[in-house]
Amino acid sequence: MDILVIGGGGREHAIIRKIKESPDCGAVYCAPGNGGIAADAICCPEVKATDIDGAVRLALEKKVDFVIVAPDDPLVAGMVDAMNAAGLPAFGPNKAAAIIEGSKAFSKDLMKKYGIPTAQYEVFTDSAQAIEYVRARGEYPTVVKADGLALGKGVIIAKDEAEAVAAITDMLEGNKFGASGSRIVIEQFLEGPEVSVLALTDGNVMVPLTSAMDHKRACDHDEGLNTGGMGTIAPNPAFTPEVAQKAMQRIFLPTMEAMKQEGRTFRGCLFFGLMVVGGEPYVIEYNCRFGDPETQVVLPLMEGDLLRAMVATAKGELATVPISIKPGSAACVVMASGGYPVKYESGKEICGLDEDGQVRGVTVYHAGTKRQDGKYLTAGGRVLGVTALGDSLNDALDGAYAAVQKISFEKAHYRHDIGRKAGGKYGN
Ligand code: AMP
Ligand code: GLY
Repeated sequence: MDILVIGGGGREHAIIRKIKESPDCGAVYCAPGNGGIAADAICCPEVKATDIDGAVRLALEKKVDFVIVAPDDPLVAGMVDAMNAAGLPAFGPNKAAAIIEGSKAFSKDLMKKYGIPTAQYEVFTDSAQAIEYVRARGEYPTVVKADGLALGKGVIIAKDEAEAVAAITDMLEGNKFGASGSRIVIEQFLEGPEVSVLALTDGNVMVPLTSAMDHKRACDHDEGLNTGGMGTIAPNPAFTPEVAQKAMQRIFLPTMEAMKQEGRTFRGCLFFGLMVVGGEPYVIEYNCRFGDPETQVVLPLMEGDLLRAMVATAKGELATVPISIKPGSAACVVMASGGYPVKYESGKEICGLDEDGQVRGVTVYHAGTKRQDGKYLTAGGRVLGVTALGDSLNDALDGAYAAVQKISFEKAHYRHDIGRKAGGKYGN
């Protein structure tokens, strides 16, 4: 079957590489794709990931059999509904279900209603009431979140009252996140290791893939600004079998059932951002899609046919596809443009990659790259996700960091301590 993948980052590259292992996989198109994805798929850069009409037209024109919608914005905007309306089967939640990521107020209310463990919270649209609430509570740090999608930047951990008031005022009155910040959630600060779990679900069964650990801050020792993710390792040692069992019983299955009860059956990849507090898992956030850069370590450790699993998920037949987790570990080190996530330059030549944009022994997932005159150039904040597998976490890290040493571009920036918090030997 011919496939169209929507998106153009490292996550989409990882999805494409994995579906191409399937005997069912025919031609793969990717819109918009990127320079490195072009070695694995036919890229259609003229169609942006948020262009619903353009994506439907492209899918019909290329006569694809199946569409995979990977990023949050088109899912939340209803791209899967539009594909289905045009007679095209697609992987990903419909608009009604994608709200689980699209509105934090929705997801917090869902958790409260169904008794799913999460930080205590209140929702506000009025800044005076919100300020009164944080003052009355008087507990710091406190967490202020924009309701809607905000490119991972809509969460402020306020150290004191002044910071909380500033965050509330910025969002509700200063229009800092546009419509996404016209409603806010104020919640209790939780502390503990964070775990990302990506799970396939069709509303009937829930199949968690291996757990992962993201590294959201730009610099070593978790310093600097929040980013889309500077690296990942899998599995995450904080997700012990005991925590996994609690998470399945208290969070994963109840969330699937809750969405069904609400008439919003979720079919796709449900991403659980968890925090383990004293051995107990809590939900920090839901995402309605594969994580980036979690996917780059989770899919290489998945045993099974991803394409068949995705097609079955869309049909509500996921139980028919065998999926398990491979032994060993994976590590992904993101190489970013200097200055990311704020201001950075693009168009720098990337040296050290072969013709296909790869380095022997590892997989280089391309995020912000383009191909020009036979060269790979930087074209975004996060440029590459250099990913290696190994018998142990340190083996995987050795592979990834050795390959990073072979790749260079002007002002390349990466973290030197990926996996440190999971017991890895890199960093200090
Ligand atoms: P989110 O965009 O919801 O993933 O939040 C971004 C980051 O903020 C999370 O990965 C956590 O590190 C942090 N965070 C969010 N909510 C809380 C909370 N209630 N307590 C502590 N940290 C939080
Ligand atoms: N890496 C976190 C995310 O994809 O939202």
